[in-house]
Amino acid sequence: MHLKTATRTLTHEMLARPDHDELAREKFVLSLKGSLRSGLGKAPRAAFEHRVLPAFQKEYGAAPASLEDLRDPMAREPLHQMWSALSRSAQDLMWHAVGASIERAAPRMETLARKLRTSNRKLGSLMLNPSVKMPEYIGHIDVHGQPGGYEQDESADDIIAGALYESGGNLYSRGVAIGRHDSKAGCLIGYLQEHHANLRPTRILDMGCSAGGASVPYAEAFPEAEVHAIDIGAGLLRYAHARAESLRFPVHFSQRNAEETGFPDGHFDLIVSHNLFHEVSRRSGPRIFEECHRLLRPGGAVFHLDIPAQRHRFDLLDQFVGDWQTWHNAEPCWPVYVTMDARAELEAAGFPEQTIEVLDRPKVDGPGHWFLFGARKEN
Ligand SMILES: C[S@@+](CC[C@H](N)C(=O)[O-])C[C@H]1O[C@@H](n2cnc3c(N)ncnc32)[C@H](O)[C@@H]1O
Repeated sequence: MHLKTATRTLTHEMLARPDHDELAREKFVLSLKGSLRSGLGKAPRAAFEHRVLPAFQKEYGAAPASLEDLRDPMAREPLHQMWSALSRSAQDLMWHAVGASIERAAPRMETLARKLRTSNRKLGSLMLNPSVKMPEYIGHIDVHGQPGGYEQDESADDIIAGALYESGGNLYSRGVAIGRHDSKAGCLIGYLQEHHANLRPTRILDMGCSAGGASVPYAEAFPEAEVHAIDIGAGLLRYAHARAESLRFPVHFSQRNAEETGFPDGHFDLIVSHNLFHEVSRRSGPRIFEECHRLLRPGGAVFHLDIPAQRHRFDLLDQFVGDWQTWHNAEPCWPVYVTMDARAELEAAGFPEQTIEVLDRPKVDGPGHWFLFGARKEN
């Protein structure tokens, strides 16, 4: 299946256009990040195997057994220090690189977004609700180093958070496992079409939509359906709405907390999320599962897609390297996600055991896979 709008590199009017020097900086970030995942990426394991492990075994007569055992010895290793410092710098450089062109283009983008919001030809809608509060687990945090975080909302026209999210995400995902395209929605839609063809959704909800990159493909794949997308951040939603309008797909964006959306019971046939769960807290996750159960009509389906980062998949060193996200990339909920039992959570939220699915699904456009977990509501 081919979804035109599922490409991350898709061009549309809301994108900032980097000039020659900005593009050169973006290319440098790409190659630095590429090296950090290939050659330089071997540095933590080399430090572990050649120095930390033998020293630990000598001192304690056994191999390290927990992430805590590794924390201090690895932090003292120059090879690991170099990898960690470069990884942090690459992330900062990424935001600087895309931030420069966005800052220059911001007035044009804000004017365009306002025009699209107020146009008689608009296809979807935008509903902001300032009384919706940013949850403390992402408020005041520059999640994955994004300047201003998801919360940035400086004026009634501010679109910067969404613009940064999309352009940063484009740069982040190129040349690495995700490939050149946003495979998330394409991957999940493909799964639904193959395994839940009887669903035929008429109302769809995308939770934690950010810039709306993964919301729009549902409007394309299910043209008969009314597609809704929610997020907490106003600056994300203004951008997402303008982006969808400029692509000419109808999506209804609104500012709501996925824990308590305010939509009526049984309102949706299909609920999806993409990369939401690795950023929600231990308290919030179960509430979101329960809200999905409440919002689905009998027989409706929910599917969440996220990174296949569960700890049980990896040896201790790779778990430690994954945990770098928590300590150095402002991903405070990472440990919650990587130890979450998705099946148990879905069951606790009321989904019948026999409908629960927890699986890996290959990406549509590159090596690797996504992690899917979902279920159908009892009929
Ligand atoms: C990593 S982003 C994923 C964005 C998008 N779905 C994608 O695939 O690119 C996670 C998003 O979830 C949103 N989010 C986190 N907790 C939320 C909640 N309780 N309710 C609604 N949105 C939430 C954040 O604001 C952020 O935009």
